[in-house]
Amino acid sequence: MNSTENWPRHRQLDAQGRLQHLLAIDGLPRALLLEIFDTAASFINVGEKTMKKAPILRGKTVVNLFFEASTRTRTTFEVAAKRLSADVLNLNISTSATSKGESLLDTLHNLQAMQADMFIVRHEQSGAAEFIAEHVAPQVSVINAGDGSHAHPTQALLDAFTVQHFKGEFSQLCIAIVGDILHSRVARSEIMAFHALGVGELRVIAPKTLLPKAIESLGVQVFTHLDAASLKDVDVIIMLRIQNERIHSSLLMAEEYFYFYGLTLEKLRLAKPEAIVMHPGPINRGVEIDSAVADCPQSVILQQVTFGIAVRMAIMTLLAGQKHQSGVVG
Ligand code: CP
Repeated sequence: MNSTENWPRHRQLDAQGRLQHLLAIDGLPRALLLEIFDTAASFINVGEKTMKKAPILRGKTVVNLFFEASTRTRTTFEVAAKRLSADVLNLNISTSATSKGESLLDTLHNLQAMQADMFIVRHEQSGAAEFIAEHVAPQVSVINAGDGSHAHPTQALLDAFTVQHFKGEFSQLCIAIVGDILHSRVARSEIMAFHALGVGELRVIAPKTLLPKAIESLGVQVFTHLDAASLKDVDVIIMLRIQNERIHSSLLMAEEYFYFYGLTLEKLRLAKPEAIVMHPGPINRGVEIDSAVADCPQSVILQQVTFGIAVRMAIMTLLAGQKHQSGVVG
């Protein structure tokens, strides 16, 4: 599980082009991303009903297998699966037999012996979700909920869905991703998703030390300062936290980072007046984002979390081979 080049190698789509696993955005056609968004849009009102349930995954068992910390992704997957009427099993890795030395594959095979239908996997190793997808039974689906610094496809999809909801047609938009691009699986997946969706202009803004080598080859405009030039004409600003858990030594102190790269109201005014501010969370107030920005009317950070439920419901629905439009299950 070392090189992330040309991943995923494992097939995500079956011979008919239907989603079998969701491991990365790479290679997914635009039409499929739009089908996910249409399906997600049909689920938004489920959360607003008194009875927040659709029977799409009734009788199915979804297993949350999180080897790394999570608040938003794990809980929104749980809420999404329960709203689809699935049985949900959350394995607490810290108190599981993993701590007694059980291997990932043995854990997987034991859970599969309980007739699990879907695994939602987060792991600190890049490639872990793909590895699991290679070893599950053919009828079982795997969703990558974040693997190392490689990919976080459901975050990218819910972020793109949020952009579409607030800003409309992608081809008309200038989107800037700001912060620790080097270690961010969210940034990698977002770049793939926004390109697939035909975004007008995509910028990355970061200190040189937090930019991957040859980042330009991914078709982005690169800026190394958060200033009037890099924020000019920007419609969407996506802030990222510094992934301290993946950094062994840092050149910038938190206060210095905030001074140069933190988004304040003053810097936000350099973008388009109606620009929206996004962040996948968790946010570090006073490091990459000022509280005044995180809580301002242009911030859609909590809306991203709400949309995350609908987008994850859509992904699980398509993985189960179902369609859902206007409340009709078929
Ligand atoms: N955005 C995201 O992945 O958040 P969590 O780590 O809380 O799941």
